[in-house]
Amino acid sequence: MTPKFTPLKDHDTPIKVLFTGYLCTVGIGYLFALIQILFTHGMADGQFGLSVDDIVYSYYGNRSGTVLEKQLNGAMKVNAPDQERFKIMEWVRDGADLSDYKADGIDKIIEARCVMCHNKDASGLPDFTTFEGLVPYTKQDTGATFESLTRVSHIHLFGISFIFMFVGLIFSFSETTTTQYKCIAIGMPYAFLIADIMSWWLTKIDPVFAWLVIFAGMGMAISFIFMWVTSILEMWFYQTVFINGFGSRYLEWRDSPEASIPDRFMALLKVLIAEFKPVGKYILGKWTECVWPVIKAKFKK
Ligand code: HEC
Repeated sequence: MTPKFTPLKDHDTPIKVLFTGYLCTVGIGYLFALIQILFTHGMADGQFGLSVDDIVYSYYGNRSGTVLEKQLNGAMKVNAPDQERFKIMEWVRDGADLSDYKADGIDKIIEARCVMCHNKDASGLPDFTTFEGLVPYTKQDTGATFESLTRVSHIHLFGISFIFMFVGLIFSFSETTTTQYKCIAIGMPYAFLIADIMSWWLTKIDPVFAWLVIFAGMGMAISFIFMWVTSILEMWFYQTVFINGFGSRYLEWRDSPEASIPDRFMALLKVLIAEFKPVGKYILGKWTECVWPVIKAKFKK
């Protein structure tokens, strides 16, 4: 079967350099995006690492209480006697009104117990010298606002669809996968992108959908990695991987109409094991030869 397009391996070197430069830059961009996610959403539940709780807190919010109550039961507990802390919390539960703020004497408590640290001059700390400074901490945490979701949604839809436009375009010149699988790989990220953005909005309404955020994000990453790796391998390593290397059998089955899927799978497994046996032996050899003695020596000390 001769393809109706120029296969990646047959493109001119300048085009290959262009494609590779783009793929590498976008790949690094993807890594930074993942790090960014770890640092923003990953910290939402107070612990490092991404979890379902993080997603829920980021989009749905932590609706079990206000920040003020949580702090008064946590880090700020030592700063006021129980009686005064309960008074503040009661006021927050009753709606945190300005009239009650004065009437219940909350302003006096805040002034006496909190303002020495929480004032205008304390950089990074919320300023409690005015009522306005305190109000945001008496509200329920409802996660991402609709404004921020709208902003991030349209940026993501426009930006990421462009990334997958070019990654998909480059990948469409590949020839190791059948047309059917190519269509799936190229279309998948768009379906997942829309599912991802929709799942943010759904999570804002109901925390159950946090799973969909993770699922869609992973789907997008998997299709990205698949297209990225296939394109790079075909451009620069076609001969070594697909003609002489472990992909050679794959090319045979791809073009053979008889091979059933289990057949193909078993044969691929055999080839992979045969390929990785020497690698495993080499690593094991190096380990016992170089690394293990060093570790042993460390423990002896
Ligand atoms: C000894 C200084 C000090 C006093 C007194 C103090 N705080 Fe704080 N407060 C801090 C510091 C430092 C932080 C930030 C670090 C942290 O979150 O643990 C903070 C954080 C907070 C936060 C969280 C702010 C945010 O951005 O999430 C709230 C709410 C708060 N304090 C309320 C109070 C209240 C109410 C009082 C009075 C009962 C009080 N604090 C008294 C030092 C103080």
